[in-house]
Amino acid sequence: LGTQIHYEESVGSTQKIAHHLANEDAPEGTVIIAEEQLSGRGRMDRKWHSPKYTGVWMSVILRPNIPPPKAPQLTLITAVAVVQAIEELTGLSPQIKWPNDILINGKKVTGILTELQADADRIISIIIGIGINVNQQIEDYPDEIKNIATSLSIESGKKLQRAELVKLLLHKFENLYLLYLEKGFYPIKLLWESCAISIGKTITARTITGSIHGKALGITEDGVLMIEDEAGKVHHVYSADIELS
Ligand code: BTN
Repeated sequence: LGTQIHYEESVGSTQKIAHHLANEDAPEGTVIIAEEQLSGRGRMDRKWHSPKYTGVWMSVILRPNIPPPKAPQLTLITAVAVVQAIEELTGLSPQIKWPNDILINGKKVTGILTELQADADRIISIIIGIGINVNQQIEDYPDEIKNIATSLSIESGKKLQRAELVKLLLHKFENLYLLYLEKGFYPIKLLWESCAISIGKTITARTITGSIHGKALGITEDGVLMIEDEAGKVHHVYSADIELS
């Protein structure tokens, strides 16, 4: 990964550029990194605050030969890679909140946005967007996210080298991706579960069709969350916001 890196000072969104490059046959592993995003995007059409020189805002183009329903696995691989990179750089122990939030002391430090271009039975490309809050201080955050967001610098008390983090992340990501292509999802699932906070806990998952309340049992082989409700029925959740409760 990262044999081709497109580095930009300021962009709308690295995701948008990645989609564009993917349509122009950019090879697997192409990376787009920007110092600043003017319209960074999060999941569910939310905004992603991406101020200049403070974070890692990047998108990676992958072209795995897997069936489209397995695409969520890539989000989980990415989350494990981010956790490993942060651990190595800072000594902190981040945790994963399914499917894609990485938290330190209960506050969000990283978001992952996975977007898929696929035919009925074949993936054309997967664009993985990663936003890591690195050197922001608490006063830099807008009021509406002050209580829920943090940065590596706030949590470690140090100013960190973003380039170092990118290097570590691409290295970890590549190793996990190759492991996945060779051995399948199972070894990744074990790593993911060992740093997930919600598994075994009672949670509420808000999906577009309604809420499901129950115990998070774990994830399936495809990376789908399983929740057992009070009546003992097991629900498979593909996309939701979850809350520990
Ligand atoms: C989320 O938690 O909702 C996902 C946030 C993803 C943010 C990253 S930053 C790089 C890439 N470009 C974007 O516009 N979004 C993703």
